[in-house]
Amino acid sequence: MPKPQPKFVCQSCGTVTTKWVGRCDGCGEWNTSEEAPTQARKPGRSLAFVGLAGTTEPPPRLLSGIEELDRVLGGGLVAASAALVGGDPGIGKSTLLLQAAASVSRTGKRVLYISGEESIEQIRLRARRLGLDAAPLELAATISVRDITSTLEAERDLAMVVIDSIQTMWLDTIESAPGSVTQVRACGFELIRLAKSRGFALVLVGHVTKDGSLAGPRVLEHMVDAVLHFEGDRGHQFRILRGTKNRFGATDEIGVFEMTDRGLAEVANPSALFLAERRGHIAGSAVFAGLEGTRPVLLEVQALLAPNAGGAPRRSVVGWDSGRLAMLLAVLETRCGVRLSNTDVFLNVAGGLRITEPAADLAVAAALASAAMETPTDAGSVYFGEIGLSGEVRQVAQADSRLKEAQKLGFARAVLPRRIARGARTAAADGMVLEEIGHLADLVEQFSGKPKPKAIQF
Ligand code: TYD
Ligand code: MG
Repeated sequence: MPKPQPKFVCQSCGTVTTKWVGRCDGCGEWNTSEEAPTQARKPGRSLAFVGLAGTTEPPPRLLSGIEELDRVLGGGLVAASAALVGGDPGIGKSTLLLQAAASVSRTGKRVLYISGEESIEQIRLRARRLGLDAAPLELAATISVRDITSTLEAERDLAMVVIDSIQTMWLDTIESAPGSVTQVRACGFELIRLAKSRGFALVLVGHVTKDGSLAGPRVLEHMVDAVLHFEGDRGHQFRILRGTKNRFGATDEIGVFEMTDRGLAEVANPSALFLAERRGHIAGSAVFAGLEGTRPVLLEVQALLAPNAGGAPRRSVVGWDSGRLAMLLAVLETRCGVRLSNTDVFLNVAGGLRITEPAADLAVAAALASAAMETPTDAGSVYFGEIGLSGEVRQVAQADSRLKEAQKLGFARAVLPRRIARGARTAAADGMVLEEIGHLADLVEQFSGKPKPKAIQF
């Protein structure tokens, strides 16, 4: 019989090697290679396969009472499941979960809040400030996962358990320090196992590293049923909760909150918040009718052009993709004759939100063209549409819900791609002027008033 080969497994990404390696080939992390225990092979049981159709009921949901959170979760927390809430330190994770936990406990369900970061006193002070101190929430401060599991094994009627944070948790059977890859993984595994066997909804709080990934092993993201990211700019008061994984619902949903002196307040109408400080009639500003998940959101795109003082022109972008900006500048220059190659370009999505949709192309182009021509965009207009390399304006998804949102906020005109099928846009745009454009040059023309010679005709 051949001697069993020693096997090493990267604790971060799971890459298997035959020798110990200092740096993992798979993920590039250092010191994550650990020897996997070799076990004698036993034959397994044979599996019984079943069909897709069955009588499984949808899992029971636990509503937190915070609508923005419940929506991102796909309709509330799921019993016997685990969710991970990630975010930068100080962004408001503990505040959000204390509010959610208190809200669930008020419905008569048993909720535990276990903190490894703050003392009972600190949590009580925060609760008092948030006006939650009367909620029947059960608090504990510990970092010992063994104590948590021994206590919870005996509990029967728990609805929700919050662990703040998974990086502070510690299992005494593992040698490494809290927050290390192995600890986080082992603690996560223990707690998730407990949630599944005891039937409560587990919420783990996790910190995010500078590069934006959840600190600790990425494995944790695979172990939980839902991953939510709480993000935002600490300079701005609003926070976005974004679902990036959900085994029980759609991802890409967002919840919008505002950090106030009495905790996080739900923002039912985010467009109004993002547009609150907009000044109309300024060259270089355009309103984008965007979508975040299934939710329409209006955002202001600002462009500033400044003469280049020598050297390579600057292109500085906040809240959008710089590669996409470079492409749009090239299209504006080559296809529409707008000279921008000797100009410094600054682009900003006001409010601090990050746009990832290509549908923002048209709004960005409008802001740039408006700045270049020193002509303000019409303050009552919204823009959306993707732009191709020849300058053509392409269709984007869900034009109807974008238009509806714009109309709700009092916008009277929309500049958008030509519709493919007649009659596709229906009641949404009643009373709104729809300006359909086929080529970016048509938009540039609106600002300059004269046709551009380089435009390609469609
Ligand atoms: P916290 O929930 O402790 O963040 P995290 O758990 O993500 O590290 O939030 C901390 C910040 O929120 C802190 O800088 C103060 C601010 N804050 C408010 O503005 N209002 C409030 O009511 C509370 C509780 C916190
Ligand atoms: Mg915290």
